[in-house]
Formats: sequence, structure tokens, C-alpha cells
Amino acid sequence: MGRAVVQLTLFGLLLALAASQPNKDDWDIYSFHINSTVIGRYATTVITSRVANRIEESKEIEFHVQIPKNAFISKFRMFIDGQVYDGVVKTKEQAQQQYTQAVSRGESAGIVSSVGRTMEEFKTSVTVAAHKKVTFELTYEELLKRTRGKYELQIHTRPMQPVKDFKVDVYIYEKAGISFIDVKGGLSTKALANAITKTHADNKAWVYFYPTVDQQKTCDSCGEQGMNGDLVIVYDVNRDTGLGDIKTSDGYFVHHFAPSSLPRIPKNIVFIIDQSGSMSGRKMEQTRIALVHILNDLAGDDFFGVISFDSQIFHWKRELVQATSVNLEEAKEFARNIMERGATDINAAVLEGARMLNAHPREGSASILILLTDGDPTSGVTNFEIIQSNVRRAIAGKFPLYCLGFGFDVKFEFLEKMSLENNGVARRIYEDSDADVQLKGFYEEVATPLLTDVTMIYLGGTNLTQTNFSQYYNGSEIVVAGEIMDNDIETFSPQVVAISSSRTLTFSTTNTSVEPSTGSVAVGLLQRVWAYLTVKQLLEKELLLSGAEKEKVKKEVLEKSLKYSFVTPLTSMVVTKPEGEKTQVLHKPKEGEAQQLYRGFGRLNYAMGGSSQFSGHSARVLVPSYASTPTHHKVTRVIGAAPPPSRDSIHIIYPLRTPDSLLIKPLTPRTHTFLLKAENQSHPLCFNIIEFSIQILFLQPGNQLIIAGLLNKIPQRGFKLIVIYLKNDIIRINTTGIPVLLENSTTVNSESDQIAVESVTVTKRDKEIDITAEDMHMVILVHEEDSDKFLWPVLKQKPSANCTGILAVDYEVVQHQPTKLKINDKEVPATNSSGIDYSVSPPAVSECWLVDNVL
Ligand SMILES: *[C@@H]1O[C@H](CO)[C@@H](O)[C@H](O)[C@H]1NC(C)=O
Ligand SMILES: *[C@@H]1O[C@H](CO)[C@@H](O)[C@H](O)[C@H]1NC(C)=O
Ligand SMILES: *[C@@H]1O[C@H](CO)[C@@H](O)[C@H](O)[C@H]1NC(C)=O
Ligand SMILES: *[C@@H]1O[C@H](CO)[C@@H](O)[C@H](O)[C@H]1NC(C)=O
Repeated sequence: MGRAVVQLTLFGLLLALAASQPNKDDWDIYSFHINSTVIGRYATTVITSRVANRIEESKEIEFHVQIPKNAFISKFRMFIDGQVYDGVVKTKEQAQQQYTQAVSRGESAGIVSSVGRTMEEFKTSVTVAAHKKVTFELTYEELLKRTRGKYELQIHTRPMQPVKDFKVDVYIYEKAGISFIDVKGGLSTKALANAITKTHADNKAWVYFYPTVDQQKTCDSCGEQGMNGDLVIVYDVNRDTGLGDIKTSDGYFVHHFAPSSLPRIPKNIVFIIDQSGSMSGRKMEQTRIALVHILNDLAGDDFFGVISFDSQIFHWKRELVQATSVNLEEAKEFARNIMERGATDINAAVLEGARMLNAHPREGSASILILLTDGDPTSGVTNFEIIQSNVRRAIAGKFPLYCLGFGFDVKFEFLEKMSLENNGVARRIYEDSDADVQLKGFYEEVATPLLTDVTMIYLGGTNLTQTNFSQYYNGSEIVVAGEIMDNDIETFSPQVVAISSSRTLTFSTTNTSVEPSTGSVAVGLLQRVWAYLTVKQLLEKELLLSGAEKEKVKKEVLEKSLKYSFVTPLTSMVVTKPEGEKTQVLHKPKEGEAQQLYRGFGRLNYAMGGSSQFSGHSARVLVPSYASTPTHHKVTRVIGAAPPPSRDSIHIIYPLRTPDSLLIKPLTPRTHTFLLKAENQSHPLCFNIIEFSIQILFLQPGNQLIIAGLLNKIPQRGFKLIVIYLKNDIIRINTTGIPVLLENSTTVNSESDQIAVESVTVTKRDKEIDITAEDMHMVILVHEEDSDKFLWPVLKQKPSANCTGILAVDYEVVQHQPTKLKINDKEVPATNSSGIDYSVSPPAVSECWLVDNVL
């Protein structure tokens, strides 16, 4: 057995984020204020940090904060010794020039803006003379987005030291009235409860957060370095059942449309789940969990479909079915059994999902297509543009496509384009312990369609932001902004036309005219909301265009970004500093840009024994010695491509990454006890194997035939998948018992109860599968316990040739008391133990000789 090496390849990246900590004694942040003003759901936040240089010499002082990804920085200034230094928003090219000049002068210019889940980092520094002070002031703006019935204002505080004068002030004004307000986040804990004051009066609300220095050191996410956490203000506003909230001022209007008292529309929903090899492990597990939860939440009049895919497509049902409890139970069973393997054929999977939705009557319902994938297309059509155009043609604007990109291997921009072209959005699912919650959270956003084909019409309006929306979901909100022609409020007439079930609804202001909201809205605010929305939407549009059209849109974004001083992916902020100091340039990173580092590691693609590609630069290779504990695994490093699978060693590539740590974790050392019966031995042999993925069950000399099994996650319960590798073919058997023939390791050839290729015949019978190859005969029993199905292989006839594999171990008793067995020409001690023998019916507990290190 020792010669049949199974290699496990782990890959990933060590991201050394060595955050330089300031030397506390040299300088002191004596004041840190965050002031957030939210008017009409548009938040303007100012962070002010005042720092003193406490030493006798000049000192470089840092300013380092996090802001929401969705926000645009609009202002940055420093006050030093009576002088003001303003950051200026410039085009990327101009900024780049200044940046390059600084670099050529040997100055380390550039502000790195890194991306976390929801936050970006802003960092700058300046040299301050002995005993002088500096004030940093950063302003950012964002239009709060309503999801699942609430707005969230996230404020991150990490001043990097306890601060004497620390304050967070939040003021919310909403003309329609605030229905509720809550303070959440890591800083809203018991220890800090008395530092938070919340006042709510009809259409105004205030939140003050004034922790003492002691509190800043003792709260949950705090320490000697002070606070490090979030304050999340959660609220919603009162709304009417009709046209919604329309604010007008200075010739601009902003319309928030979110009627809530409409009946839900039944939905037709198809989930397309990537089950390619890279999904293996926790991602697949979380996906299964989330999918089962989501299926539980479908309403009885919804219709649904589930497809899992790798290089092939696996239907649960070929057509949509109604969400009856019987169907849901069956679908959940399908979901629980989705197994990772194979490559990624996104094109075929999405086209199939679209076919299913197109084949189903749409009248009176809302159709939704959801794709979950963790990688690039690697099988079938792999060209991004061709996939996009195929998908566009298949969907033809009839329903939205939502793409969920799981982890950092995804080419997010591709998913984003595909979603935007089909009226949907793309969302990242972060690989973390709460990935199933993230998946479910996304589903909840689209779970309750209330309207379809929403058209927002504004007579007397111009320069409108997006006005057509394919669907409107309960808990969300449609926002449109624009200019009012000639600022003539009398002739300005908004109207919404949409479809609810099969009825066309019109929302209008027949009875109530739009009143100008002067007085309640700060001057110029609505114009900024309009500019913010316009720039956001143009940036999305720019993504989808090419050539001259793209340049035109780019120019427009640039003009608006410069005019309104927004730091966008097309502009940068240049921070000029006192004479002789380096100039810094602030770039807003594109979504996923910081993760390019991870992406470099590429798409690792495995089918058990299928083609393994490695498009990245390096990887870690874990070579387990099956007899030893995981800590003995040897870690080596490969550069370039991982070796393709060969007959001597099957390379199983196993991604083990989390965004933040790249330690090679010891694998769960749960053990499975295996019981083996040799033909001429009354007492079976048993041994423990450490729970980890693939076991070689049987291997013929010359490797003409290899049979391998993927262990069940539940210890002692056999295998989830058994794969037969022949010279040119692969046959796969999962717990359905139906053998599947893979051609060239990728495409399915046939799916039938009997497959005969090369020397092997696989036959499915009731609850067992027969494998015969020349003089070998193996039976795979399908067992079910606590609704967990698993496979149990039994070698019925061992060929005369010298075979290896855990089913082919030969043993002989050479000594009694203490027992010694001879295994593979080695004498090993054995002790009395017991295990469950699944080779008999019904399964029975059997005594056995327990040995170590048989393999
Ligand atoms: C916060 O900012 C608003 C708007 O700029 C201002 O009116 C208010 O006085 C500020 N509050 C504090 C506590 O500084
Ligand atoms: C929409 O959401 C609101 C608030 O969460 C809820 O009261 C209402 O019942 C929901 N409507 C439907 C049709 O589910
Ligand atoms: C919006 O929808 C209306 C009515 O369906 C249609 O006439 C108009 O062309 C659409 N506009 C855009 C920009 O798609
Ligand atoms: C107000 O609007 C409703 C719905 O559009 C309409 O039925 C009603 O007649 C209108 N009332 C007046 C006074 O115009």
C-alpha cells in the first residue's frame, strides 16, 4: 500500500498585514470625533483626529481609518501650525504623475487603500515638528441602502490608542418619521452600554457614543490599544403605501419608492450551485446548509428548481416544481448530497437554469435565477464574453440573474458584468464561518417579490438616474434622482407603473402634489444625492461597455467625480503636504482589487483524478503519510503548475484557505474504524484511519485499475463517493448508486444502471452496486442511517495478482497473547477491539483485531 501515494495539495497565500503600530509615547491622540449626519438617508460623516507630537524632535504621525466601501471620500484636510493642507481630487492620470514624481524623488508616496468585507482603509501620515499638533479631517458620503427592511450606518472606530476626548455623534433626520432605531455592532456591548445614548423623537434621532478612557480599554473588542470595532446604527423610516417619499429642492428631486403593503408575488426560482472541486470542504458544507434553509423558506405557491454543476449538470428535476412539502423534502435530500468534484462549466449551467425558467409560465409571478460559484469557468465554454452573450440571449431581459461569488478565486468582475447585464447584482460571499448566514441573508433580500417591471416616470424631470427596475422586493427600496426642468415644481409629476401578480398598478400624485422640501433639506444636498447615484450607476455602466461608448461614459463619470469631489475608481485624491514632504495619492480600489493577490493562486480544479489545473504561481503541497498524524505532514512548495494526475499518484487538490490566515491547519483528527474480513480468517481486522478525504480502496499493479473512496464526514459510516479509475475512463458512484461515466474526466457519457468500459462492468442493483473486472469482484452496499446515505465497499473476490489498497490488505496471525499479525510482510501488534460490520445485513457489531499503521 505504501507505494500508492495520495497527495493532497493545499494552496493559499500568507498575507502578512504587518500593521505598523505607532509608538504611543511619542505622540498622543488627544481628541477623536466622528460626526455623522444622515438627512433623507444620505449620510455625511466627518472624522476628526487631533494629535500632538510629545517629543523634542519632529515626528511622523499617522492617520488611519476605515470607511464603508459604498462611500465616496469627498474631502480630506490637515491643519498644521495654522496652515491648511487640502486633499484635491484629480484624475487618476494626473494623480499618477504626481505619484510617479514623488517615487522618482525617492519618496515612498501612495496611500494604500485595502478592502475588507464592508470597509476600506484610508491611511496617511505627516511629519509634525517638536511639540506641535496636527488635525486630520476626513469626510465621506454615502446613500444608505435599504435591505431587509432597514438602513444601516456602519461606523468603524479604531483610533489606535485610548482617547481622552472621544466622541461619536450621529444625527438622523427623516421628514417622513423614523419608525425605529437601534444601535448594534461589536461596540454595542454591555461594558459600553452606558456610553451610548439614543434619542428618538418622531422625525429626528440622535445617537451619542462617549466612552471613557477606561471603557475604551476594557470593552470586548478593546485593549491597551483602545477600541477596535463597529457601531452600527440600524433604522427604518415610516412610509406610505403609495408613491413614496419625494424630496425636491434647488431644482433637484430624490424619490424613495418602497411600498410595503402589497401582496407578495409567487416566485419561480432556480438555484444553480457550483459543486466543482474547489468548493470542497467547508464551502460545500455551508452551501448545503444554506440551501436547505432557503428551501425551508419557500412559500407553498412558489415554483423552484435546483441544479448542481461541475463539468456536467445535475438536475434535481428537469422542470420547475411547486414548493410542496413532499417536493421540498426531496430537494433538500438532493441538496444535502451535493458533492464537490470536477471542473466548472458556468455557461452550460446558467443556460440550463434559464431554459428551466423560460419553460415555465411566468404570468403573475416573478422569476429569479441565482448562481452560486466559487471560481472561473474552466470547462465547456470558458471565454467570458461568449458566456455573457449566451446568457444575455437566453435570459433576454425576462428575469434577473443574481451571481454569488464564493471566496476569492472568483473573477468577480465577470460575475458582476453578467448580473448587471441581466438586471441583477453580484454579491461576494466571504469564506468564513458565517458563509451560510451570508447566503441565506442574500436570499432573504429577494425572497418576497412585490412588483415586477417597475417603470418610474417623471414628467418634467430630466437627467434621471435609472428608472426601470425588473423587480421590487419587500424590505428593499427603489431610489431615483434627477433634475426638475426649469425648477418648475408645478409641472413636475412623478408616477410609477408596475405589475403586481397579473395586475398593472399605477402609483401617482393625483390627490397630493409634490411639495418642495426647502427648509428640511440642506442646500445642495439633493444635488449631491443625485450626483452620488449618477456616478455609482455610470461606473456600473462603464463596466459593461467597450470602445468609444466606454470612453464617453468614463468621461462623464470623471467630470462628475471631479465636480463633486468624489474619490471613485477613476479619480484619486492627492494629499499635498508641507514643503519637502512626500505627496500622497489616495485611490479607491475596485471591488476585489485587493484580492487579486488571492486570485493569483488561481482556480484549482479537481475531479478525483480528473484534470488538475493550477493557474497560479505557487502552492503549498501537503503530502500526508496516512499512517501518521496530520502534524507530521510534510509541506513543500511547488512553483508553476501542479503535476497532472498520473497513474502512480493521484493528486487531490484540496483548497484550504481563509482570507485572513493561511496556516495549514491540522485536519480534524476524527478517526474511522474500518473492519476487514479476509477470506480465510474468522476474526476480522480493524484499524483506524484519520478522517481525511480520499482513501485508496484497491489498486492493481501497474495501476490499470484504481478504486478510491471519499470518506463520509460522519465517522464510521463508510464513504460518500467511490471512484473507479481505469486507463482512460473514470466511473463515479455516489450514494444514489447510479454509476456515472466520465469521459476525459469531464463530460458525462451516459447515466444508466449498467456501465461496461474497458475491463470493468459496473451494475446497479437495488441497494448495491456490483463491480467486476477480470478476476476481481467488489460489491458496494448502499446503507442509510439517520437519513445519512453512505457506501460500504466489500471485496468479494481478490485477484491473484499482487494488489494493494485498504480492501486488499492480507494478514495472518503469527502469535497469540499478545497477538501479533503479519501484514504486508511486517509483524505488527494487535489488540482486541470491535467495530460495526456493514458487510452483513443487518449491520452488526463485530469483534476485531485492532492494529496501527497497517497502511
Ligand atoms: C456635526 O456636523 C453637523 C453638520 O456639519 C454640524 O451641524 C454639527 O454641529 C456637528 N456636530 C458636532 C457635535 O460637531
Ligand atoms: C413586507 O415586510 C413588512 C415589514 O417587514 C411586513 O410587515 C409585510 O408583511 C411584508 N409583506 C409581505 C407580503 O411579506
Ligand atoms: C423603460 O421601460 C419603458 C416601458 O417599459 C420603456 O419604454 C423604456 O424604453 C425603458 N427604458 C430603458 C432605459 O430601458
Ligand atoms: C385619490 O387617488 C385615488 C387613487 O388614485 C383615487 O381613487 C381618488 O379618487 C383620488 N381622490 C381625489 C380626491 O382625487
